[in-house]
Amino acid sequence: MRLSDCHNFHDFRELARRRLPGPIFDYIDGGADDEATLRQNTASFERCDLVPNILRGVENVDLSVTVMGQKLATPFYCSPTALQRLFHHQGERAVAAAAAKYGTMFGVSSLGTVSLEELRKAYATPQVYQFYFHRDRGLNTAMMQRAKQAGVDVMMLTVDSITGGNRERDLRTGFSIPFRLTLGGMLQFAIKPAWAINYVTHESFKLPQLDEHVDMSGGAMSIGRYFTEMLDPAMTWDDVAQMVRQWNGQFCLKGVMSVDDAKRAVEIGCTGIILSNHGGRQLDGSRAAFDQLAEIVDAVGDRIDVMMDGGIKRGTHVLKALSLGAKAVGLGRFYLYPLAAAGQAGVERALGLLQTELVRDMRLMGYSSISQLSRTNLRFR
Ligand code: LAC
Repeated sequence: MRLSDCHNFHDFRELARRRLPGPIFDYIDGGADDEATLRQNTASFERCDLVPNILRGVENVDLSVTVMGQKLATPFYCSPTALQRLFHHQGERAVAAAAAKYGTMFGVSSLGTVSLEELRKAYATPQVYQFYFHRDRGLNTAMMQRAKQAGVDVMMLTVDSITGGNRERDLRTGFSIPFRLTLGGMLQFAIKPAWAINYVTHESFKLPQLDEHVDMSGGAMSIGRYFTEMLDPAMTWDDVAQMVRQWNGQFCLKGVMSVDDAKRAVEIGCTGIILSNHGGRQLDGSRAAFDQLAEIVDAVGDRIDVMMDGGIKRGTHVLKALSLGAKAVGLGRFYLYPLAAAGQAGVERALGLLQTELVRDMRLMGYSSISQLSRTNLRFR
């Protein structure tokens, strides 16, 4: 199977599965507990149908949107995700390059493996910095200052991960960074020599957003341990209100799910919220963002930019979310499997396919600009 054989999400996932050592594939692929929310995320889009219009003259289709002050050529963006150089040695460099090529926004994670400064200098396309709130308040302030100085466009505070999700696939394989695997996990690496050669022949693994603050030499740091030991579950609205004031720019919360919380985000001065259950990786049984979208747009959509992520595999999923009132949608696994499968070429192919699907779907829906989408396009079963 080659990159040219990949025509959709499922193909990229399969190619990634063949290329990656099992523990790494499972880290990307897995969710929390029984993975019910992970499954719901995509299923939620299939509970409603599109109602197309005909004969509207749709020769030219404009996919651009403006969200949190950023003009994007497409209504999808690459959400920040952790540890990208583990999936392919190009890591964040590949994702940022592909996002820039398609004129959209990309995120750099606190757990990113390329520095936010390097990426900011390399690409002019809008950059989000994903932030975790640490117990160490000095670290929080220093990280914000650093992001400000680098010229990051949007601050994105993740609020659904104040403690680690129960990811049983990772418990089984022993997935952690640097690697400290179970015997079964190690065997999985041994049978993927191409990945292993690539990994050891490129620059060593680092977390440049955190390396001044986290000592990785003393042993393996699992994602669960990072969340549990370093992040602050005591974080409150007052803490975030203070961050919003300090940042003094575009600031969004990722992981808002209730109407009350959406209203509070408006009150403390956030400019965006992202409905998200963290790709089903945190609270299993949590509702799909798409199912919660209409209620939240109705409550706050005129005062704050509402976005969503989770489960997007198709252009029609993007159109459904935008029709309900999302300003843009985030992609995670959608570009991570292509990254793992083929680096920058893979991510570019995946984003290109989604863009092509969206143009085709817009034409089939009878629309030439995103602002024409509305709830009249949708019927829930
Ligand atoms: C995860 C974090 C790191 O889901 O975002 O693994």
